[in-house]
Amino acid sequence: MRRDRRAFVRRGALLGGSLALLRAGTAGASALSDAKAVAPANTALETIHQLRTTHGNFADKQVPEDVLQQILQASVRAANASNMQSYSIVVVRDPALMKQVCTYAGPRMLLYCVDHNRLKATAEHLKLPYAPGNAEDFVTSCVNTALAAQTAVVASRALGVDSLVTNGIHRGDMERVWRLLELPETLCFPLIAVVLGYATEEAPQRKGRLSGAGVVHDGKYHRLTKDELDGLVRQYDDPAAHLGLNDSWRSEGRQHYLEWLFGSWLSRSAKPTTTETQMLRLLKRSGFIEPNA
Ligand SMILES: Cc1cc2nc3c(=O)[nH]c(=O)nc-3n(C[C@H](O)[C@H](O)[C@H](O)COP(=O)(O)O)c2cc1C
Repeated sequence: MRRDRRAFVRRGALLGGSLALLRAGTAGASALSDAKAVAPANTALETIHQLRTTHGNFADKQVPEDVLQQILQASVRAANASNMQSYSIVVVRDPALMKQVCTYAGPRMLLYCVDHNRLKATAEHLKLPYAPGNAEDFVTSCVNTALAAQTAVVASRALGVDSLVTNGIHRGDMERVWRLLELPETLCFPLIAVVLGYATEEAPQRKGRLSGAGVVHDGKYHRLTKDELDGLVRQYDDPAAHLGLNDSWRSEGRQHYLEWLFGSWLSRSAKPTTTETQMLRLLKRSGFIEPNA
């Protein structure tokens, strides 16, 4: 029993390391020892610190319906502006359809859409005025929708269900998502998908996170110094920090992980464009972005 407690404190100290960094502001041994004071001491924090993404490898094992319903009931508990829940969640059970929609497949997928159609229909039903459809409505509703999605992810973890959050819905021909799931063209915008299931294998290592300078600003915004920037580069390069998506930059002979991230990974799609992107076109079509934007 005592050994179990010690093991928990040790594990908690590691898990809580990032929290300590929030307070210390810099990485270092003192931050880690400080962690003991803020180690996750309850199941909610333990669940949050166990979160990790399953990158596509889901077992052929169903998520029981009652578990799915618990996840959905938890998801809608997220905070949301004016308690209007300006989102819709489309539950997809067909893996083939799921793959077409978000490029991944698993036992279940929840598609989270910014959506004002239910609210509008309710207002019209009572002949009340309601005219959403500007950038402010969109930003607020994105927050509502993302919080609901993340709450589903946390609830899933608590129930032993693995998840993959993906914006695969925004890759390729985005209009397919509307077509395949018969989404309304206006006031409805697919924001993020969450695939649920059971991972075939545990990821060898939980991904790390930055949590110090540049992430948390104490009191007012702090612009990074050269030393702090060097520190960030070092953290990304440190294999023990597990911040990188992969290690290929080493075998490719690059000096730093960030050379791979900015030089290869992000440059795949982030090309400056002079023509209207499909994202902007569809945001305009949805009515959330002013047409002359
Ligand atoms: C907006 C968003 C989009 C993402 N899209 C993908 C994706 O398409 N494919 C994927 O494998 N992971 C995706 N992820 C998961 C991230 O890669 C993952 O959260 C990150 O690498 C940190 O790993 P962890 O969640 O295991 O800690 C996405 C996460 C977010 C928040």
